[in-house]
Amino acid sequence: MNYYVTTPIYYVNAKPHLGHAYTTIVNDVLARFHRLDGYDSYFLTGTDEHGDKIVRAAQAEGRTPREYVDQISSLFKAAWPGLAISNDDFIRTTEERHKTVVSRFMDLVNRNGDIYFGEYGGHYCFGCERFYTEKELVDGLCPDHQVKPEYVSEKNYFFRMGNYQDWLIDYVKANPDFIRPERYKNEVLGFLKDPLEDLCISRPKSRLTWGIDIPFDDDFVTYVWFDALINYISALGWPDGELYHKYWPVAQHTIAKDILKPHAIYWPTMLKSAGLPIYRHLNVHGYWQIGFSKMSKSVGNVVEALTMADKYGTDAFRYFLAREMTFGLDSEFSEDRLVERFDSDLANDLGNLWQRSLAMIKKFSGGLIPTGPEAEGQPDEPEWRGRAEDLISAWRLAFDSVNPRGAMTAVWEYVGLLNKTIDSEAPWALARDPEKAPRLAAVLARLAEGLALVSALFWPVMPATAEAMWTRLGLDPAAMSTDPKTIREKLASGRPPTVGEAFFPRIDAEGKAAGKAAGQGQAPGGTKAPGGTKAAEGAQAAEGGPGDGGGEPVGIDEFRRLDLRVAKVEAAERVPKSEKLIKLSLSLGQSQRTVVAGIGKRYRPEELVGRTVVIVANLAPAKLMGLKSQGMVLAATDPDGRLELLSPGDAAPGSKVS
Ligand code: MSP
Repeated sequence: MNYYVTTPIYYVNAKPHLGHAYTTIVNDVLARFHRLDGYDSYFLTGTDEHGDKIVRAAQAEGRTPREYVDQISSLFKAAWPGLAISNDDFIRTTEERHKTVVSRFMDLVNRNGDIYFGEYGGHYCFGCERFYTEKELVDGLCPDHQVKPEYVSEKNYFFRMGNYQDWLIDYVKANPDFIRPERYKNEVLGFLKDPLEDLCISRPKSRLTWGIDIPFDDDFVTYVWFDALINYISALGWPDGELYHKYWPVAQHTIAKDILKPHAIYWPTMLKSAGLPIYRHLNVHGYWQIGFSKMSKSVGNVVEALTMADKYGTDAFRYFLAREMTFGLDSEFSEDRLVERFDSDLANDLGNLWQRSLAMIKKFSGGLIPTGPEAEGQPDEPEWRGRAEDLISAWRLAFDSVNPRGAMTAVWEYVGLLNKTIDSEAPWALARDPEKAPRLAAVLARLAEGLALVSALFWPVMPATAEAMWTRLGLDPAAMSTDPKTIREKLASGRPPTVGEAFFPRIDAEGKAAGKAAGQGQAPGGTKAPGGTKAAEGAQAAEGGPGDGGGEPVGIDEFRRLDLRVAKVEAAERVPKSEKLIKLSLSLGQSQRTVVAGIGKRYRPEELVGRTVVIVANLAPAKLMGLKSQGMVLAATDPDGRLELLSPGDAAPGSKVS
């Protein structure tokens, strides 16, 4: 089984940003998913280097086009390893291998009678490098660049795209998932309701020399889109290349909605005219926006993708993008939202599952994953295995239909199920009853197997974390598998596991993660914090629950592990660049400590000095905005979300709260 996926080749007039990163990451995720699922997968990206736009960008920097494209293209090439992009090739349209194929392709279309020479006058937008019809302009302006196009009239070569209109309509209708999601298929059928004009595919050299020569006329170069689209086959060595024969029949392109028309209309008609098979799928996603406006270089709000990855880690950044955007729709990017997801999904759900499971394997099973017959002989084992199978099917279905968000949601539902299993099975209670030893072994085995399975399933999105988890589980990440039976066999013959450092130490433990724990009635006791120390998740539920205080019951032993203390606020100051965080210097009578609390939207620092508060004193330290926080302040949140610090009145600092 083969698989071939491509990104758009990016214009080199801008540095790589979040939008480019998203498409490239999604393609990488798809390529990795297929690799993991047994496909022979090929993944192409590259840069689009010809045309007016590039010449103007080079001039603006006082460089020759050649120098300029070399520099920016290398920025793209260098950016991808930092985002764990595993492309098999990187094509540049200024490479000889591409130019030769473009000439050959054009010759073929010409010989098939689909190119003619004619005069054309129209509204040309230099930003888009295309002519606009009157109807397409919005108030006389280019809809993308909001500038008035110039009226350009010249002799040029044209591709008889209109010849293929009926064929294309039939093709799109006969292959309902050719363009997906469906909204974009409908959009294309909408475009095709109007007659397709022929496509101007050349530029006179008198106006532009930075392009690929037209093989049958020395005075013209190729129009940049005609040149660019061909990259998808030139990189495979069309017409004779082995890669072409192997991968072109299964090609999929992933793009954003901005370049739907060239991909859904120009490209299939070009392929049809040249007598080549049509690609299989066009996967179209929406736009990342910032503050609900379109992100663009000119607006100046381009998020530096690589800075985000540096700040929060490549895997967390990839996870956020994959999990946050519904493929096909626009999404709002915000760093706050990223931090929230980081804390809730990665630090809380996954991180706690990891720490708790491994700590219990260490404590109750001598550090070895139980794999004996006890684990097999449980009456609910078939049902448990059925759930894993359901998860794998949901994951596969989601990725097959280009829905990374759905795939990750399915995996996180399973993470939730594993966390719940810990709470409901209470391995610490099972461990006290020798008769329950088989059940304890089965539960611990399920946790280890579950961790190996979920990490394999999120490998396409977070490869480094998944590989590290496999290694720490004593497994070989090079032989990663999503088959539960194979996982069980590997665990049976693997090395003893190691807990290690937390994978995702919380960023904003008090504010954001606590909010989620409370809001979802989650966070029952018994969670483990980074480093294996007992964490006060139970106290977080107390901090926020506007609900009925529900969630699962907490045993008294669990509750007693929390060390709740009275503390006096001696000093308070806002954490720079954070609306929410306040740094508190607390006295516990005999000792002092610093706690960074997410209460800055409710309290001013000066109101806090002199107050007594209740803190969870044995919470594992966390770093928040670079500051070490040693504990958590307890607060109540009413149904309107208003926060009130718990006040122990006159109790002396250091008093134990029970
Ligand atoms: N060179 C052409 C593509 C030729 S493909 C044969 C081009 N280049 S581009 O640099 O402008 O890249 C456009 C693509 O970048 C979009 O289709 C999308 O993949 C990505 N994105 C750029 N900005 C984006 C957002 N704000 N949000 C999501 N992706 C966007 O068009």
